[in-house]
Amino acid sequence: MKTKLNFGSGTDILKDHFNIDCGEIKGIDIIHDLNVFPYPLPDNHFKEVRARFIFEHLDNTKDANNVKVLDELWRVCKNKAIIKIWVPHYNSKYAWGDLQHKRGYAITAFDPMIKGHLGGYCDHYSKTNFKINKKEYCGGKLLEIFKFLRIHKFLIKYFNNICGILYFELEVVK
Ligand SMILES: C[S@@+](CC[C@H](N)C(=O)[O-])C[C@H]1O[C@@H](n2cnc3c(N)ncnc32)[C@H](O)[C@@H]1O
Repeated sequence: MKTKLNFGSGTDILKDHFNIDCGEIKGIDIIHDLNVFPYPLPDNHFKEVRARFIFEHLDNTKDANNVKVLDELWRVCKNKAIIKIWVPHYNSKYAWGDLQHKRGYAITAFDPMIKGHLGGYCDHYSKTNFKINKKEYCGGKLLEIFKFLRIHKFLIKYFNNICGILYFELEVVK
């Protein structure tokens, strides 16, 4: 089995990845509902995960939620594996631009997965652990100008649609 996972691949099938999605899509390696645990994937196998525009589609309930998804990705990944995540920013039209979206995301959304974060107030959420190597606000050329002027954080906080997408790189800590 390939050691890169395309998590919620959709039609963005990548030949050098193992592609998983709930859809019957041409080229898919395995069809699985990613709200159902455990995933039919081995322990400690993947060194990289690409999770582009999938987290916001998954359930946000007690039994199936983004913490449980990250716990499961932690299980199937090797130590130091990198999980690349693209999600819609909560304050943009993309957050609620699809009937299937369950939630939007702030730049701090994945912080609770880091053990000891802010004195460890979220440590009981999960037994798994991650480092966050990258957190980026993404958008168009205008956002890049605001970043250059170092005013983007202020504008994103108080105005809509400045930032459409957030990009994160989480590192698995075992
Ligand atoms: C916006 S598409 C993203 C596809 C691809 N990652 C990309 O970037 O083009 C969202 C994908 O999530 C998949 N999806 C939604 N809910 C799912 C679930 N419960 N289990 C597995 N896949 C799911 C859909 O089938 C769809 O392919």
